Amino acid sequence: SWTMESFIDKEIERIRQMVGPVGHVVGAVSGGVDSTVAAKLMNEAIGHRFHAILVDNGVMRLNECQVVKKMLGDKMGIDIKVVDAADLFLGRLKGVEDPEKKRKIIGNTFIEVFEAEAALLDKEHGGEIEYLLQGTLYPDVIESISFKGPSATIKTHHNVGGLLEDMKLKLIEPLRELFKDEVRELGRLLGLDDELVWRHPFPGPGIAIRVVGEVTKEQVEIARLADHIYIEEIKKNGFYRQISQAYAALLPIKTVGVMGDKRTYEQAIALRAITTVDFMTADVFSSFEWFECLKRISSRIINEVQGVNRVFYDVSTKPPATVELC
Ligand code: XMP
Repeated sequence: SWTMESFIDKEIERIRQMVGPVGHVVGAVSGGVDSTVAAKLMNEAIGHRFHAILVDNGVMRLNECQVVKKMLGDKMGIDIKVVDAADLFLGRLKGVEDPEKKRKIIGNTFIEVFEAEAALLDKEHGGEIEYLLQGTLYPDVIESISFKGPSATIKTHHNVGGLLEDMKLKLIEPLRELFKDEVRELGRLLGLDDELVWRHPFPGPGIAIRVVGEVTKEQVEIARLADHIYIEEIKKNGFYRQISQAYAALLPIKTVGVMGDKRTYEQAIALRAITTVDFMTADVFSSFEWFECLKRISSRIINEVQGVNRVFYDVSTKPPATVELC
């Protein structure tokens, strides 16, 4: 009978057979569940012949790149390189307000940076990189043709044309028969921390699609700080596992407020918290206790985040709204 333990053994053996005794594998990681579990599996199978690349696109969460590097590199022993491309991404996003344009810029820049890095690694390892790891899940295989970010970015051949064609890389997709809950179980059995196994999903275009309007360093900083406070309080108050996905977004709308005895005229933060099974439809997370918690979070954000004087809670369901604002 099928068990996750036997899946692990079989998959590690299959990977070893595929890659052979000298081959190397490269893959993008984001710190999300899928790419981390896939990376861990590769590390178990071929050790440091698997190379993880984390692209810092300038729109990651607070301290995220350092945290992910520590977790995958130091704690899990995975060979990981963080590529700081923040200025490149933010430079290209300058003046861009249209959501789809933002997504395209980030997607294309990601592929460009990742491909260049993979080529460098290939040189370093004597041209022995033969495979590209992707954390594709079963639902991605059956339903998704749309562009998704880092963890799933390089999901279609089309998106990594360069790597698959120029470097003649072959795809390796160890999670392609699994559903999300199975990936979490796999992660748990592979010894990943609960914190990681139960992480909310985070979109490839990151905070850029959570800053409405132009994405600047300053705007990202505001959304990032508010989000950090929000998630910290959600965890502290025991709501994290009840919520499927939560985040703070920045609305570039100035309204009037009062701080001490002074008038303020600042931007607003929107808080989102949804429950869902498949992310195709979503409900708003709500309860009396949650609303009390939201009020405390609101006052923390307004007090601690400069440039914000108002907090909204997004009560729209999907459909007609979407999970992300952009
Ligand atoms: P929407 O906004 O479409 O989001 O209701 C549904 C789920 O998908 C995530 N999402 C993305 N994930 N790249 C990703 O990797 C993306 O471009 C992207 N856009 C949305 C979103 O966070 C939610 O979980």
